Parts: sequence; structure tokens; C-alpha cells
Amino acid sequence: MWEYLLISAISGLIAFKLALILYRRRKYPEPHYEWGNIDLDEISFPDNFLWGAATAAHQIEGNLSNNWTAHEEKKNLEKSGEACNHWNLWKDDFQMLTDLGLTSYRFSIEWSRLEPEEGSWNNDALDVYSQMIDDLISRGIRPTVTLHHFSHPVWWEEKGGFADENNLNDFLNYSERVFDALSDRVDVWCTINEPTVFSTMGYTLGQFPPGKRSIRLTLKVMRNLMRGHAMVYRLLKSKRPDVRIGIAKNVTLFDPLNRWSPIDWPVSRLLDWLWNGAWRKGIMTGKMLFAKIPEAKDSLDFVGLNYYTHFLTGLFMPTSTEELEFAKRSHEVATEFGYPMYAEGFRRAIEFIAPLNVPIEITENGVADAQDSLRPEHLKRHLWIISEAIKDGYDIRSYHHWSLMDNFEWAEGYSMRFGLHEVDFNTQERTLRQSGELYRSIIRNSTSK
Ligand code: BGC
Repeated sequence: MWEYLLISAISGLIAFKLALILYRRRKYPEPHYEWGNIDLDEISFPDNFLWGAATAAHQIEGNLSNNWTAHEEKKNLEKSGEACNHWNLWKDDFQMLTDLGLTSYRFSIEWSRLEPEEGSWNNDALDVYSQMIDDLISRGIRPTVTLHHFSHPVWWEEKGGFADENNLNDFLNYSERVFDALSDRVDVWCTINEPTVFSTMGYTLGQFPPGKRSIRLTLKVMRNLMRGHAMVYRLLKSKRPDVRIGIAKNVTLFDPLNRWSPIDWPVSRLLDWLWNGAWRKGIMTGKMLFAKIPEAKDSLDFVGLNYYTHFLTGLFMPTSTEELEFAKRSHEVATEFGYPMYAEGFRRAIEFIAPLNVPIEITENGVADAQDSLRPEHLKRHLWIISEAIKDGYDIRSYHHWSLMDNFEWAEGYSMRFGLHEVDFNTQERTLRQSGELYRSIIRNSTSK
């Protein structure tokens, strides 16, 4: 009799446990951590880990004339205008890097400054970038240069930009010119920033230039970005095999809003494939979205990871950014952009790119938060994830916070504030936020150990 009771009790317990697991899974199919039980101060980084911040030319330099300024005009968006006036204030801004204790700075070169008209080159502008590099090196900060961060000259946009494979030679020429001038001092290069964001925002959602909405064009641009990256990689490596060339890849995760929905799950898998999987396959096999791009195979010396969030997918996915309304789990906090803070996904993103088998540089991670109420926790959680991943054997070499200071957030204008420094755009005054102080002290503790 007692055996019978015991077996019933054990089976009851197992059934209860199973039901609990299923119930929890129904709520959150993707991993979530109990952050309250985690000691976020328990972090450690290797001695040679690089601490950085990231920016992009169009978002900070000011007074540009490129595909983006044309788009701002055409779509009546907030104008980038003077931005952070960084073109004139860069020396002061670099002092902020030093004050934070940074050892790497990721920034981009503005093609439209160097080649405002097709074939006519502005060497003075190139010289300014060269001075920036010297200045960074004299501060003990590694320059990490991106060749294309969403912006390019108007004449190139008019020729079709990345939508026409015949235009890739122009991108290659520009890249070679910059490389010839700077590669004696710059060892780490990103060819292109976030190919998938560029193609979907510009050609599916129409929110970025050229403001088109065509799946066919989006796929074409995705393939040409891969070709462009690979061409630049091959040429630059043939010139200086010892430099390290990578790409900055935004890994956004797509999770089904409802685990058991017959729609949400396939939608999430499809979007994940288009956004992440197809790109990774391109680099690993030289085949991407029904095209053979053999030169893309193994065209990375490192992979730059930009991580921000996960998207919860369902039947009503937006077809334009006006419709973008981000779902979040009940226990998640929404960032000012609307999407949730989901640091757990950072680990998943790292695991996703690990099979590429090259070192990882975190080229962007940050949060829109004008009041700086979320950023300290955001920073701590994401650094903890990196620290754990390194302990588990992932080869992560650097972290670049997005961003050094508030700047022009593309279609959102100046409404989204991502800076470790707050910028008053009337006076151009920069003020270190509390999260900036926190970052500085984390760097100090980590490097003094
Ligand atoms: C881009 C940055 C942008 C940031 C925050 C990334 O997708 O590379 O230019 O400002 O996200 O939205």
C-alpha cells in the first residue's frame, strides 16, 4: 500500500513540475534570467580587453551633404544640421575618451566629405581623419575605423548605391583610398555597418534613404552589401595581410510572441533567417539568398557584434515604421525606443556568431534613455553577460558602448538619447551622465586589478 502511495506522490510531483515548466515556457519561450539573484558586480575581464565607445560620422560631425541629408529634406524629417559639431570639436571630444579611460574608439569615415563629386577628392578632409588617428594613438586609444556607416555621397545614391552591383567598384575605390592613407596606423577596420539594418530600413520599411519599399530590392541590396564587403576585404587584405578586417553585424533576435501560435513561431524563424541566418551562411559558405558569392566565404578576421534587443513576432508584423509598436514581456522594461531591454539576448547573439570562428568585438551596445534611469542597469547587465561569456571560453576582445554622446538618431532625429555624455544641442555642451561615471569606474577597477 505505502509503495502505491509513494509512486502516486512521485508521479504527482513530476506531473506538477512538468506542468510548471510548460506553463512558464508558454509565457516566455526564450530564456529570461532572475536578475535580482545575480551579483552584477561579479565581473572580470582579461588584461588586454579593450574598452571603447562608438559613433558614426553622420550622427556627430555636422554640416554634411549626403544621401541622408537629402532624405531628411525629402521626407521632411528632423535635420541632422550641425549635429554634435564634432568636425570642429573632435579634439575636445577625444579628451572625453581619455577621461573615461577608454582604449578603443570606433568611428566612421564620411565618404561624401572625401568624394563630394564623383572622381573629385578632398584631400584636406582626409587629412583631418589622419590627424584624428594620430591624436587617438597619442592617447593610447586604438582607432577602429568603419568605412560605411549608413551614409554616402548623393551622386552615388543617384546611381543606385548598393542596389546596383556595378556601383560596387566606386565603394571599393573609396575604401582603397582611405586605406592607403590610414592603414599605416589603423589596424582594425569594419567595412560596413549593419548590412541588414541598412537594407531593410532603406528598402523594406522605407525609413532610411532611399526610402523604398520593395522586398525584391531589399534582397538585392543584401547580396550586394555582402559582395561589397567581400571585395573590400579581399583588396585590403592583399595590400596589408596583417590588418584585421571585419564587419559590424546587428544581431536582433526574433522570438514568437506566443509560443504555441502556429503563426508566431514560423514568422519568428523566417525573420531570424532573413536577418541573421542568411548573412551568417553567406560568410560561412559563400552562398547567400540564392546567390553564389564565393569571395565572401571566410571574409572576416573578426566579427563586430551590435546588440540591442529582441523582437517578439506575431501575425501583425509592421510593414512600415509608423506601424512599429514593440511587444514586450510583462516583466521586461521598455527602453525609450519602445523595444525591451533584453540582456539575455546578448548571450544568445554571442552564441549565434561564435560558429564564425573568429574573435568577437562588441562594436555597439547601448540604450536610448534621456533621463539615464535605465542605462546604469543596462550597462551592468550587458557587461556581466560579456564577462560570463568570456569565462565560458568565448573570444571577446572589446566592448564599444553606443554612444560616446547623444547624437542624431537617424529617422528619430534628436529625440533618442544614447549618450554616455548628454549633449545640449543649443550650446554644444557635453555633460557626463551618471552611467558614464559608472562606466569609467568599471573600466578603472577592471584595469587596475
Ligand atoms: C546603428 C547606430 C544607431 C544605433 C541606435 C545601430 O543600429 O549602428 O547608428 O544610432 O543602432 O539605434
